[in-house]
Order: sequence, then C-alpha cells, then structure tokens
Amino acid sequence: MVAFAAASKSLKNPNVQSAISHLFRFQSARTLLVQSVSESVKLQKLGDFDSGIWEVNLERPSSKNAIGRDMLRGLQHTLESVNRDQTAKVLMISSSVPKVFCAGADLKERKTMSPSEVLDFVNSLRSAFSYLEALCIPTIAVIEGAALGGGLEMALSCDLRICGENALLGLPETGLAIIPGAGGTQRLPRLVGKSTAKELIFTGRKVDGKDALSMGLVNHCVPAGEAHLKALEIARFINQKGPVAIRMAKRAIDGGMEVDIDSGLAAFAEKRKPNYKGR
Ligand code: COA
Repeated sequence: MVAFAAASKSLKNPNVQSAISHLFRFQSARTLLVQSVSESVKLQKLGDFDSGIWEVNLERPSSKNAIGRDMLRGLQHTLESVNRDQTAKVLMISSSVPKVFCAGADLKERKTMSPSEVLDFVNSLRSAFSYLEALCIPTIAVIEGAALGGGLEMALSCDLRICGENALLGLPETGLAIIPGAGGTQRLPRLVGKSTAKELIFTGRKVDGKDALSMGLVNHCVPAGEAHLKALEIARFINQKGPVAIRMAKRAIDGGMEVDIDSGLAAFAEKRKPNYKGR
C-alpha cells in the first residue's frame, strides 16, 4: 500500500510523466521510416496494432522548424506519399524539436529572396496546406510549444489540433507588416469566429494552450509533454473505425460546411451506399 502511494505520487511528477510519455511514444512506435526528400521532414508508419497510423515529424532544430524551400519540398513530397497510399488511415503531424511545433516561414531565407520568389514561395506554401487540408484521411496536429505564423496555419489545415499547456499559438504577421498568407485569414475565422480571428490577426496576440482551448482553436489541451500521447489515443480510436466511413464522414463534413445544410445533405444522399472493403 505504501509502495503504491509512493508510486502514484511519483506518477504525478511532471518529469516522470514526460519520461513515461516518451517511453510510450517509442514503445508504441515500431515504426518504418519512409525515405524523404528533405532531412527536415520525416515520415513514419507505425506498426503492429497501430498499423494505419502515420506520422510526419518536423525536424529542423536550427531554425525551430521554420519552413524554408527545402522543408516545403519535403512536406509536399511527404503529403503526396500519404495521399497515394491506401494503407494510411490517420496522419499525425508533430515535431521532434523540443518546445516548438513550427516557427512559421523561414524569415532568414526570405530575406535572400526577390519579391517574385517570395510570392512563389507563399503560393506554394498555401497550396501545400490546402493539399494537407484536402487529404482524404483525418489529420491531427500535435502542438507542444510554439506554433506561429505558417506553423499555426499548418495546424489549422489539420482536422484536429491537440496541444500541451505550454503551447504558444499565434499569427504575428501583421507585426512584420504582412498578412498570414497561407490560409490563416480563411481558416482561423471558420474555427474561432470572425471577431476573435480579427482580434488575433490584427493584434498578433499569442495565446497559450488553455486560452486556445477556450476559444475553440484546439480540440484538447493537456499537460505539457502529453500532447503526443493524447493525439495517439485519438488516432487509435479513429484507426479502429471503418476506413471508408471515416473518409466519407470527412468529405461530408468538409463539403457540407461550404454550402447550406439542405444542399449538403442532398449531395451526401446522392452518393452511392458505401461498400466497406477497408480500402
Ligand atoms: N525563421 C528563421 N529562423 C527562425 C525562425 C523563423 N521563423 N524562428 C526562429 N528562428 C531561428 C532563430 O533566428 C534562431 O537562430 P540563431 O540560433 O541562428 O540565432 C533559432 O531559430 C532559435 O530561435 P530562438 O528565438 O533563439 O528560440 P526560442 O526558443 O527563444 O524561441 C520561437 C522560439 C519560435 C518562439 C521564436 O524563435 C520566434 O518567435 N520565432 C519567430 C516566429 C514568427 O514570428 N513566425 C512568423 C513568421 S511570419
């Protein structure tokens, strides 16, 4: 009984929780690493009972996962691989760099670009995030630490967002005299409402995990270091469901949100009855 009390006390220690979370992460992750065109973007397919759960890992520590041309190529290539493979059932996007999800566009690289190169880059970034949003499988952004500018825009393009309490989310672009150019002006108001989105974009205010949860910007806010565990738990629930039903549900929700409810239901009803073959 004493031993149990001591063990349960130590389980409440944040350092122990973080260690368990890491252990769990790597134990569960009997993974297959898929070759990527960029060192900064790694794609892993989880194995055994987690087969079907895929994970994109952002790994550019020197610039806090800021997205430059090379990383963008890696992202595009990785998302195309996910889209092509029918065995992918749910995708998690996370960071291997501590205390940051993604610091947005690479501002140092941007300084070296001509205005037309900047335009090309922003257009490509916007397309990549639209491609991410349109993936037919559910996507989950796992946010520990900063998700700023393009980093938040990437998370907004996912179906779900899970963050740790230490998260810092914001669109600070107006402070640099630019606007969020990769979909943030469209996706943020759809998620948190027009007025709140305007406040966040006009002021560039960054919010923590709890505030993000209260405004509906994230689905769950968990203790720092536990976002991956929570996201994996949700991914596992999704992974157990009929894959065709999940894809159809995503299509119906996303398509239906763009039109009035009758048109949305009619469009869904006109589709043939799903034939569940799991592919
Ligand atoms: N582009 C290019 N490099 C970036 C970057 C970005 N968006 N964000 C961070 N970095 C670089 C820093 O310049 C620094 O490089 P250095 O070691 O050569 O000086 C390195 O990453 C570490 O950054 P630092 O600020 O020291 O780390 P931190 O842990 O104190 O803070 C952030 C991390 C993400 C909160 C902070 O870097 C930040 O706010 N970045 C800018 C985010 C932003 O405004 N994005 C919107 C772009 S429109």
